[in-house]
Amino acid sequence: MKLIIAANWKMHKTAAETVAFCHDFCRNLERYKGIDILLCPPFTALDAAADALSGTTVKLGAQNIYWENEGAFTGEISAPMLLEHRVEFVIIGHSERRHLMGETDSQVHKKMRSALNSGLRPILCVGETEEERKQQATASVLERQLRGALEGLDPAETESLVIAYEPVWAIGSGQAASADDAEEAALLIREMVKKLLGERSAAGLRIQYGGSVKDSNIGLFVRMPSIDGALVGGASLQAESFRALISAAGDSLAEGK
Ligand code: PGA
Repeated sequence: MKLIIAANWKMHKTAAETVAFCHDFCRNLERYKGIDILLCPPFTALDAAADALSGTTVKLGAQNIYWENEGAFTGEISAPMLLEHRVEFVIIGHSERRHLMGETDSQVHKKMRSALNSGLRPILCVGETEEERKQQATASVLERQLRGALEGLDPAETESLVIAYEPVWAIGSGQAASADDAEEAALLIREMVKKLLGERSAAGLRIQYGGSVKDSNIGLFVRMPSIDGALVGGASLQAESFRALISAAGDSLAEGK
């Protein structure tokens, strides 16, 4: 399975800063052909990013979507609007949206449906909080989030899904999950996708780990048999650190799983 490493910039970088990043970052990326590399800037920088990335292999993603195509939904952005800005992927259900903005499983489901119906490729985020982990509820939280997001989707539309396992306590904390714990979660995620959407969706699924990923630990994750990439926040904000991370993933891939 081709690795997919995505930069989630959250609320960082203006359009001008995005262009500067892209020019710096996109030099000599040919040797990472075996990795899908993806930038997810804020909405306001999407168009600038699309221009700066044109002619490169780096793909473009958004960080959120609304499920209606148009209407009286002040401040929201729909699938057709993202597609107009040459967006290919969209992050859905990030824990900051779930926990800071109150996004529910049923809203996540509607966003998944809208993205898939319009041809955008969702990166669905799931993961437990520290409290849930202490209560040993990780598996039941993942099951609830996956069922909420995926149940009832058309299996024909979900043959190349990306799901990011992002334990909330690991995000931005400097304390990543262990590779073994991430692998265990990834196995559970694949099993649930098989149950909810069938064999083909489970076989085509790519699972990322996210939460304090950097160049010094990415190799541990991508070497695990069920992990196919990473969703990266802090370490993706500087071109140099993101390149170092991709290069470390590439080296580790060359050594084999
Ligand atoms: P982090 O963020 O790499 O800064 O921990 C990851 C994410 O929120 O997707």
